[in-house]
Amino acid sequence: MTAATHIRFLVQPGGALTGRIRVPGDKSISHRSIMLGSLAEGVTEISGFLEGEDSLATLAAFRAMGVHIEGPYQGHVRIQGVGLHGLTAPSQPLYLGNSGTSMRLLAGLLAGQAFDSELTGDESLSKRPMRRVTDPLAVMGAHIETAEGGSAPLKITGGQKLKAINYVLPMASAQVKSCVLLAGLYADGRTCTTEPAPTRDHTERMLRGMGYQVDVDGATACLQGDGHLQATAIDVPADISSAAFFLVGASIATGSDLVLEHVGINPTRTGVIDILKLMGADIEILNAREVGGEPVADLQVRAATLRGIDIPPALVPLAIDEFPVLFIAAACAQGRTVLTGAEELRVKESDRIQVMADGLQALGIDAQPTPDGMIIDGGAIGSGQVNSHGDHRIAMAFAMAALRATGPIEIDDCANVNTSFPAFVELARGTGLDVKAQ
Ligand code: S3P
Repeated sequence: MTAATHIRFLVQPGGALTGRIRVPGDKSISHRSIMLGSLAEGVTEISGFLEGEDSLATLAAFRAMGVHIEGPYQGHVRIQGVGLHGLTAPSQPLYLGNSGTSMRLLAGLLAGQAFDSELTGDESLSKRPMRRVTDPLAVMGAHIETAEGGSAPLKITGGQKLKAINYVLPMASAQVKSCVLLAGLYADGRTCTTEPAPTRDHTERMLRGMGYQVDVDGATACLQGDGHLQATAIDVPADISSAAFFLVGASIATGSDLVLEHVGINPTRTGVIDILKLMGADIEILNAREVGGEPVADLQVRAATLRGIDIPPALVPLAIDEFPVLFIAAACAQGRTVLTGAEELRVKESDRIQVMADGLQALGIDAQPTPDGMIIDGGAIGSGQVNSHGDHRIAMAFAMAALRATGPIEIDDCANVNTSFPAFVELARGTGLDVKAQ
């Protein structure tokens, strides 16, 4: 990381979160809107698009493959779809920054193209496991070379004839499921995925919203190759994963009363609300409605006394991105919180079990990492310095911890907050968090 991109958060202790805010657009849906909008026939108009580095990396990749995309301008994007077979060869490797979703979903899509391509990423993405996608794609007939250890860069040889598979996922991963289904668009026959636990289903919903038949029966989703996608309007809801920082912040800070507007509450994403409610949080779901095939609501959250719980393992995949900030809730709760069944946290943008345990310990909290989770005893959060290890969600989680700290918290390596939540500092300051970026 260069000095210019090095950003540190300095957060003063105390305060309460109040007001009404809309956090930026959903990252998962923003990625898919670019991918499917590009492959559709006709013009796709997107509103609420996340102008963060991750979804912009996906947008740049499709521009590099010949798709005419206007924007983003204040969350608006207009895509001239090229159809399933209209992408053209990129002239250089597609650089996807920090974005695991871009790389894993694109691997599936590009495996079925007539041209060769190469996918690269930053230091963190280049360490993340990619065999989870290249293995099933190889069974479909794809040719993909990984670096040693099964990580990026991925070199994809085009012109392969893909055949449909029935893939039983070894782990609960929406990225793997989506990768296989997207390759299935180009495969001969009917591709099916079966997942061990429910994961986000935005790909299935958006495909259907564009007129592509996806048959879902329990844990199995199937589609037939070689159909058509019809362009449509996509309204991206606010990201519940970004809202989660405020759900926890307002819960732990006495006197808080905050409304988060237009948040996506797809049932495959709402584990954070269920877990916080089990801990005693005061969260109300207001104006529940459906927008373009995705459920949306305003969330009102008020301060509450939280208690430690054993987190039900069934909720883990439904809250997989929210554990950094849920660990902060646990640190502020009365009693012990135990998380198990969350080994996937070790292969996110950082090892979120180790990095969060280190940071909590640095702030005086008794947090014991385990191979698949953490044991946290609630206590007083002290002042101190923590390192986010370039992980956006860890940086924002520790920023919220300051609401209950006895002194300032300094957080190092925060530049990647821009991958999912541009303007976090300004928005959080507006609600009452005394955070500054330096
Ligand atoms: C995502 C799936 C999840 C999640 C990631 C976004 C997606 O990853 O952690 O932030 O958009 O499909 P896994 O599939 O690795 O669980």
